[in-house]
Order: sequence, then C-alpha cells, then structure tokens
Amino acid sequence: MQTALRAAIARFEEAGIDSPTLTARVLLAVVLNRPREWLVAHPDQPIEPAQQAAFDHLVQRTLAREPLAYVLGRREFYGLDFTVDPRVLIPRPETEILVDLALAHLRRSILSTAQPQSEEHVVDVIDVGTGSGAIAVAIATCAPTARVIATDVSAEALDVARLNAARHGVAERIQFITADLLHDVPVRARVITANLPYVTTEEIDVLPAEIQAHEPRIALDGGPDGLSLVRRLLNQLPAHLLPGGAAFFEIGSAQGVAALRAAAEALPDAQAVLEKDWAGLDRVLSVFMPEGYPCHHPLSSRIPLL
Ligand SMILES: C[S@@+](CC[C@H](N)C(=O)[O-])C[C@H]1O[C@@H](n2cnc3c(N)ncnc32)[C@H](O)[C@@H]1O
Repeated sequence: MQTALRAAIARFEEAGIDSPTLTARVLLAVVLNRPREWLVAHPDQPIEPAQQAAFDHLVQRTLAREPLAYVLGRREFYGLDFTVDPRVLIPRPETEILVDLALAHLRRSILSTAQPQSEEHVVDVIDVGTGSGAIAVAIATCAPTARVIATDVSAEALDVARLNAARHGVAERIQFITADLLHDVPVRARVITANLPYVTTEEIDVLPAEIQAHEPRIALDGGPDGLSLVRRLLNQLPAHLLPGGAAFFEIGSAQGVAALRAAAEALPDAQAVLEKDWAGLDRVLSVFMPEGYPCHHPLSSRIPLL
C-alpha cells in the first residue's frame, strides 16, 4: 500500500495537484472502503491487483484535473452528503451562508404569520437554479414541515437534485420543475433562494482548469457583468414572493454595489442589504419585500402543486 501511495503522491506533486498526500490517501481510502486513519495505521497492508487498478484509474482522473468531488461522486454541504457529477455544479461552502439566511427568515415568517399552508400555489421556499439540490435539500432537511419548489433550466441537473432529495428523505416535500428562472412557475413563497451563475463571461476563460473544463458552463456564465440572471429574477420577484417575503441571491465578491443598484432599480419599495462571507467579502444580496405590496401578475394554475 505504501508503494502505491508514494507513487501517486509523487505524480500529484509533479503535476502540481493541491494537497498531494491528502488527495492520494482520500482516493485509496475510497478504493479500499476504509477510513483514512486506517491507511495510516496499516501502511504495510498489501493491496489486490483489482484495487490497484481502481486506484490508478482515480489517480488518472485527478491528474486530468477532474475535481475531487466528481472523482469521488460526492461532496458534503450543510452537513449532508450530496451526490455530484458533471451534470451539476459542485456545492461551495460559502453557499451555506445563503442557507443560514434563508432558514432564519423562514423561521421568523412561520412564527409571525399563520401562512395559508393549504392554499394552492403557495409554498414556503422556491430555490431557483437548484443544481444538485444542495440549497433546497438542506432547507427541507432543517425545516421539516417546509414545502419547497426547486427549479433549474437543466433537466439533467434536476435528475441529480431528485436523487439527493430522495437520499435525504425530503423528496415528498420538494417539487422539481424545469424552468427558465420562474417563467411559467405560478407559485408564491415566503422565501426565494438563488445561487445563479454569476461568473462574468470574460472571467470564465481564466478560471482554474478544474472548474473551466469540468463544471457545467450553464452553471457558471452570468453574462457580461455576471448579474444578467440576478437582474431577470429580481424583476420576477413581485409575482413570486408573498408580502413580507425575502429573496437571497449569492453574488460574486466584486458585485455588491452593482447588485444593490439592480435591486433598487427593480424593486424600489424593497429593502436590499449585502451580507459578507467568512473572508469579509460581499457574498449574498438579501431583498426584503414590504408587507402588503401588490402582486403584479395574477397567478394562473397551470402547475398542480404537491
Ligand atoms: C451556480 S449553479 C448553483 C447550483 C446550486 N444552486 C448550488 O448552490 O450548488 C447555477 C445553477 O443555475 C442553473 N441555471 C442557469 N441558468 C438558469 C436559468 N435561466 N433558469 C434556471 N436555472 C438556471 C444552472 O443549470 C445551475 O444548476
């Protein structure tokens, strides 16, 4: 085992792979179906030829700059294990801030207003651009009575999201809808969450190879200034948020001022604030609708709810 590990570490070092020793141990631990600590405690354990072949395959994928989460087929988010593959963006730790903010508003809203839960076309949360379902599933898991709608323009991303909802026992409370943002989704919610693509088209070409070559472009490209989809969704909010509702958008660290301006232009009566991430950088645009604002577009009843 030691020989196999040493060889992989040397190849990772040569190729400039991050954390070569840790990466090699993680991969071998998966192949042997053992915890990483076990590897350290049993360095002389022989490995079978089939295990060596499986390990070599994972090493090759890593050398080809495939992100570790795709190689392993999983990533932890909000304390939950998510299945991921190249159909979806790998959930990022900073998105947990958005989940915290959404859950806090949801709790306040549930405690302060007896929402018409049985009413048709009203749900607790809509997660727009759900990808792997990370945000929707984390919220449904932490808010055990919440009814959630999760949309994505990518039908194949929604297949992964459905799988994750089933894995975590929340599939019955999340409805998945293929849609361009909230177009033709005639539903209103207490909370809307959106981690939409926000990388500028220009920046995509200078992203690290792992991201650029392997993560879906449709999950990254936010248009010329990164805020094209955010602006479009801001304009859809009046028809989809309940009075007193709130929307939370993940944004790029350099987009705070532009995002606030976009919110003020689209929703002059709403309160918009920026939240920072752990590095002190702008990360979430929160938009709070006033109580009693008019709903601009009457909701139709094309989509039967859960
Ligand atoms: C940055 S990824 C985020 C995925 C997930 N919400 C997360 O936080 O890990 C953006 C997601 O938005 C989806 N998307 C892109 N354009 C969209 C659109 N016009 N309408 C709905 N979803 C869209 C992509 O398919 C992708 O799954």
